[in-house]
Amino acid sequence: MTPNNSQPPHFPLLDHCPLALEATAYYDSEWFRREQRGIWARGWIYVGRVTDFPAQTLKRVTVADQNLFVASDPAGHLRAFHNTCRHRGSALCVAEEEPFNGKLIRCPYHAWAYNIEGGLVSTAFGTPTADFDKLEHGLFAVALKVWNGFVFLCLRDNPPAFEPDLGASILDNWPMDTLSTGHVLEKRLACNWKVFWENYNECLHCPGVHPALSQRVPVYRQGIMAANEAAGWTPETPAQAALQEGAVSWTVNGQSCGPEFPGLTAQERAQAHTFVTLYPSLYIVAHVDYVRAVTVVATGPEETVLRAQWLFAPETLNLPGFDLANVTDFATQVMMEDGQACEINQQGLKSSKFIQGRLMPQEFDVHGFQQWVVAALQEAEADSDADAQPGAAPQSSSPKPA
Ligand code: FES
Ligand SMILES: [Fe+2]
Repeated sequence: MTPNNSQPPHFPLLDHCPLALEATAYYDSEWFRREQRGIWARGWIYVGRVTDFPAQTLKRVTVADQNLFVASDPAGHLRAFHNTCRHRGSALCVAEEEPFNGKLIRCPYHAWAYNIEGGLVSTAFGTPTADFDKLEHGLFAVALKVWNGFVFLCLRDNPPAFEPDLGASILDNWPMDTLSTGHVLEKRLACNWKVFWENYNECLHCPGVHPALSQRVPVYRQGIMAANEAAGWTPETPAQAALQEGAVSWTVNGQSCGPEFPGLTAQERAQAHTFVTLYPSLYIVAHVDYVRAVTVVATGPEETVLRAQWLFAPETLNLPGFDLANVTDFATQVMMEDGQACEINQQGLKSSKFIQGRLMPQEFDVHGFQQWVVAALQEAEADSDADAQPGAAPQSSSPKPA
């Protein structure tokens, strides 16, 4: 982002209209392969809530095309490994989810057995000679991090720092660890994963694409994500209500779906929606009464899978007459509107005439995202056989309209 020196210090708009990424970045299979290696195989990738990995189970997950599994011991402690046996490479966890006695991970082929730390314990009927060292034949471990009940994996031997865009403590006032998943929506989009993130990072499309959301969030009617993007804004400009009068949350009727989270500050309450971004795989929207987490999975150069989870306090889910649809219908509509816009965007990108787009000053976070992609690829490629730190995700405090 280039600060505009003639503008107030908090004014985030660009002072020029930068070129966007070249069009081929959104459909070329070589670009996709570079991104799998340079971004998805190097960062912290979200794979599910802790509650998606019940105690005493093995569960398969995929990150950057790698077949992995997460082992949950009897205490619910999680570890992750590449899903490959050190004997002749058989997969160890075959079903999507398997029971696990918490002690031994046994290969289904010739029954080699590994302990919960991944150490090789037994070669079963195979009788090794003195040149074979069990200590050298443990499972390949994968770095795992749990943050606010979200589970992340990183394929690198030396993972980068874990850095949500607003800092690791941004959700400390929400009871994240105790929330339960009340609803899941999965949607396959015919677009490149970057098209989705770019849509997430601007609100120029909001007045036209999201009429109901723009009604609920007045600032979106101006095609901006926050008041400080408006012409003439200064730090002294009085703050406006985040939501339309009478509304407190992103629900169809505007009302809270249950008790509001008690630990929120007055500012968090007034803000009504706190967006937290963890490129490339997750964003979280924390409201006063529930939280929504949206996973992005790049499944092909022109295909992206979205998985949204609505998270609630257990007492909210147990309320007599709890109206789940009143909560989920609101953001589902927004996500469907965005999904359609993304697919239409993808269709036009492949015109032989379209070489490269041009960003508007309000698309400062799109620009930041594109710069992050390019920097991450450059660092990965400069470091193709070492294990250096990738580029840090750009800092952004814009409330996102997704
Ligand atoms: S491949 Fe696993 S024991 Fe043979
Ligand atoms: Fe949108």
